[in-house]
Amino acid sequence: MTKPYKAGIIGTGSTLPESKLTNLQLEHIVETTDEWIMKRTGIRERCILDKEVPLAKLAADAAAKAIEDAGITAADIDLIIATTVTPDYLTPSLACCVQKEIQAARAAAFDLNAACTGFIYALQVAQEFIKNGTYKHILIVSAEALSRVTDYEDRKTCVLFGDGAGAVVVSAVSQEYGIEASIIGAKGEDGGVLTIPCCYWNDEDLEKRNEGKVQVIWMDGSEVFTFASRIMAESTEQVLEKSGLTPQDIQFVFPHQANIRILQNAAKRLGLSMDKIYSNLEYTGNISSASIPVCLDEAAQKKLLKKGDKLVLVAFGGGLTYGAVTLTWSKN
Ligand code: ACO
Repeated sequence: MTKPYKAGIIGTGSTLPESKLTNLQLEHIVETTDEWIMKRTGIRERCILDKEVPLAKLAADAAAKAIEDAGITAADIDLIIATTVTPDYLTPSLACCVQKEIQAARAAAFDLNAACTGFIYALQVAQEFIKNGTYKHILIVSAEALSRVTDYEDRKTCVLFGDGAGAVVVSAVSQEYGIEASIIGAKGEDGGVLTIPCCYWNDEDLEKRNEGKVQVIWMDGSEVFTFASRIMAESTEQVLEKSGLTPQDIQFVFPHQANIRILQNAAKRLGLSMDKIYSNLEYTGNISSASIPVCLDEAAQKKLLKKGDKLVLVAFGGGLTYGAVTLTWSKN
């Protein structure tokens, strides 16, 4: 029997908006300090998408870079999976808007919402389509404009979030490279600790928010923090075991970028030094599902990744959701 195809990342791209919102600027917006934000989160600034620019433009820009990096054209893309919690429209989906922008006329397209874990969920979905031979080239584009659902009167959340887009092309690669193992999961019973109402809200949703604000993030930060610190380490351990690897085999962990203290806690539990944990959150803040593909593209641009490197990608997010992937890097 022939082995199923193995799925790997053959191209990466990312785009961050040019406008910045710094901690010093936030000091004039809410009662906070640069010192508090740096100490409690590790974030110094975040990128903010201009109000008149649709998220689809940012997403398409990142997507076009990933396609070019993969050495293919938009016409070669069979499927677009867009991950986001802030689509421009509920319909058309962000994936359909990107399809139009990049002219990937042959591609099927749909959105996937697993909050900050969206990219990991999308990799798992893409992998299945590649493994069974249904599709040859799949574009995953993860794009978020969290500034559009952030209440800039709520200091507990507005210091955390930013905007950005990252993309990858997933295709068949030879057996010694690509995705080794993945896990995805959810804990819907605890979903109430992080909410963004869309088409429905109740009295409790209104009570939690400032007067007149509805479609904005509300979060119980310490509950999310506890969940995140535990699940990042557990998911990494599970996926390593599934792929027959140990933390020592790993060149880099690419974690969802939410808070430097969450990354430090996870590293400690895994017995890994922080130089193995890739982080860019100081200059991006939390960009939800876009954070891992943006980091991957940055690391590739900086030539930190070598063919054959073993990587872990791991995330948690609203839902609550979580997931992790082990990957042998297949690009030169
Ligand atoms: N500036 C100054 N003080 C602040 C600020 C601020 N920006 N925010 C909160 N505080 C105050 C609080 O009011 C509180 O004061 P009090 O003791 O007088 O009541 C004090 O600081 C401590 O507040 P905590 O909430 O306990 O602070 P903590 O150390 O837990 O940090 C934070 C809060 C940064 C939100 C942290 O809990 C966290 O990072 N949680 C995880 C968030 C996360 O990862 N979310 C992403 C989910 S993924 C997704 O899908 C979007």
